[in-house]
Amino acid sequence: MNLAARNPSTPAQQPESLTPSSVPAGRDGSGRAIDVVDLTRSFRKRTGWLRSGELVQAVRGISFTVPHGTIFGVLGPNGAGKTTTIKMLSTLLLPSSGTATINGFDIVRDEHQVRTQLGVLFGGDKGLYNQLNALENLRYFGRLYGMDDPLIKQRSRELLERMQLLDRAHERVESYSRGMKQRLHIAKTLIHDPAIVILDEPTIGLDPGAAIGVRELIADLVPGHTVLLTTHDMHEADLLCREIAIIDQGLIVAEGTPGALKAATEIDRRVAIALADDARYDRPVLEARLAALPSVVRATHQPDDTGLMRLELTCLDTTSALDAALAMLREHGAGVTAIDIREPSLEDAFLRAAGREFEGDSPDDDAKADS
Ligand SMILES: Nc1ncnc2c1ncn2[C@@H]1O[C@H](COP(=O)(O)OP(=O)(O)OP(=O)(O)O)[C@@H](O)[C@H]1O
Ligand SMILES: [Mg+2]
Repeated sequence: MNLAARNPSTPAQQPESLTPSSVPAGRDGSGRAIDVVDLTRSFRKRTGWLRSGELVQAVRGISFTVPHGTIFGVLGPNGAGKTTTIKMLSTLLLPSSGTATINGFDIVRDEHQVRTQLGVLFGGDKGLYNQLNALENLRYFGRLYGMDDPLIKQRSRELLERMQLLDRAHERVESYSRGMKQRLHIAKTLIHDPAIVILDEPTIGLDPGAAIGVRELIADLVPGHTVLLTTHDMHEADLLCREIAIIDQGLIVAEGTPGALKAATEIDRRVAIALADDARYDRPVLEARLAALPSVVRATHQPDDTGLMRLELTCLDTTSALDAALAMLREHGAGVTAIDIREPSLEDAFLRAAGREFEGDSPDDDAKADS
């Protein structure tokens, strides 16, 4: 499917057999698949074999709610606390404090039930048996979930078809490309048809083509499943998630829909049109005409670094401002050599919320401690 053209109000159809009959309301009837309240986790630092008394606060009080049937993104740079958060939610790590429920089950008190609700994919190469083929891997993990063989067989075929791996199902996984392995990882994560799917950096290390394929599969998981996705890829979060929590150094620094997060950046939307040498017209008149449009705040002419003249627009809507400007330039027969559009991005949202660039690790990222 074309993710760029995806309309959140008309979610993609899924194959019948992989789609639960309805979006579940959850055990507590709250409509919340994941509910996280003030979760924290600290580690004790370790240098070599020695433990120093110093604590690393990996997660410092995170709260968020994920409605059923949606994709929620936890976006943050390296060391922000993403993996620690989802390890707690998937019961692999006890929280230092705070609470969370998965489909109404408490991650500490109801550990077993929480696990039955979840399919979890952690980043990295581990988690598949390279000597086994795809079907054997899925059978192994299906049995771990207590599924019987006929059901495993049926689910495996459906999932491998969906992951475009059916024709390679009998080949050993060691012969798979990175993208194929990741698709099989996703199939493994879904084998027991979990209500909630947690994906830790699902496209990390994939080439752009393979990443697009995996993103399309993730987009197709809703509304039949609820997806919690961690990523440090802004573009991925923007494309996939209905709502995003931006985390930095163990804290949520901003939360909202991608659109709302970008709109809050207070970054001007800009269009710059580089004009051909021979563009001749009355500049103040054109500027006044453009500035009179509802979508344009300001229009000016400025030379760029190389001395070429540029028509620069500060606007509310880049598409209609660009349309109008190009139409007016055409009226005057003015040639255009380049167009540059600047829209607020999630990068700007992070900068605004965290007060620093997204790139770079958290200060504590090289800390080593015991869990
Ligand atoms: N077992 C551990 N012992 C000590 N410190 C840890 C441990 N696990 C995580 N940390 C520290 O906690 C912080 C958050 O780590 P975490 O792995 O949750 O970040 P992340 O957001 O998943 O980063 P990345 O994008 O690199 O995967 C980092 O400073 C990390 O060094
Ligand atoms: Mg991580």
